[in-house]
Amino acid sequence: MASVRPARFQLFSLQDDPRGLWVAEDGGEIVGSAFSWACGDLWFLAELFIAPQMQGSGIGRELLARALSHAEKTGARTKALITFAFNTVSQGLYLRHGMFPRLPLYMMGGARSDFLATTVEAPLTYKAVGPTDLTALAALDRSALGVSREKHHMHLLADPALKGFLFYEGSNAAGYAYVASTGHIGPVAVAHRDGVGRVFDAALAIAAQGNSQQISAFLPGNCEAALDIATRRRMRITFPMVLVSDREFGDWQRYLPRNPGFM
Ligand SMILES: CC(C)(COP(=O)(O)OP(=O)(O)OC[C@H]1O[C@@H](n2cnc3c(N)ncnc32)[C@H](O)[C@@H]1OP(=O)(O)O)[C@@H](O)C(=O)NCCC(=O)NCCS
Repeated sequence: MASVRPARFQLFSLQDDPRGLWVAEDGGEIVGSAFSWACGDLWFLAELFIAPQMQGSGIGRELLARALSHAEKTGARTKALITFAFNTVSQGLYLRHGMFPRLPLYMMGGARSDFLATTVEAPLTYKAVGPTDLTALAALDRSALGVSREKHHMHLLADPALKGFLFYEGSNAAGYAYVASTGHIGPVAVAHRDGVGRVFDAALAIAAQGNSQQISAFLPGNCEAALDIATRRRMRITFPMVLVSDREFGDWQRYLPRNPGFM
């Protein structure tokens, strides 16, 4: 399931706050790693991996303890992560640490050809996002998630393989969406629940104009409008996942995460 990709977000986070990155070594070899980030009072466990031959021997528990010390240092009020819905070991480990499954999420994908023929009703106006839009992006995050992710937008905007867009209803910002050259959509945040379908639809239309043969998105199970659009466009579930946290947070009908690590 794992794929090798440039460690852009990990390297950004290592520079931003090295307290969130840990490795476990055995005889000079890395046998496990943990990576967490914090924004405002939200702490998020982006990765926890133990080498297959070393799993089940307590290393995950030890690395998680160190990652949780990062949460304490940042003064986190909310601790959260996204893991595979079929992973009994990780969910058992998180349950033992007071983090409970809250919401199913689906990584979904489809063929670009299924998006080309469709027309978007009453399309929203939009513009490409630049560094001067950070305040508007952060305001949308704060209203949907309760925290600003301004530093993460700076990271996304510096990625040449990604484009961000702000969508408007009249002169009001209805939401933002990022579209990658791989055809992946997300993160997406919207100002109002009833706007998510139109913004997601508009992002799909932008992705369909790209060159990638695949289009994908990461959709919360309670975001009915987005899931309805995805299934009507014949998108398939590739990975079922679950949001785990120590308390309720965020409006997941207004925020579509990018992937399990970035959220
Ligand atoms: C998930 C993972 C990080 C756990 O690390 P680990 O070193 O194997 O786990 P540990 O030996 O420290 O702890 C295992 C704990 O999982 C829990 N657990 C294991 N199987 C379980 C099950 N079937 N039901 C409930 N809890 C279970 C227990 O709490 C157990 O601790 P205990 O044996 O003391 O009771 C590791 O297995 C891994 O890297 N898996 C693949 C990658 C992955 O899925 N990462 C999580 C992504 S968020």
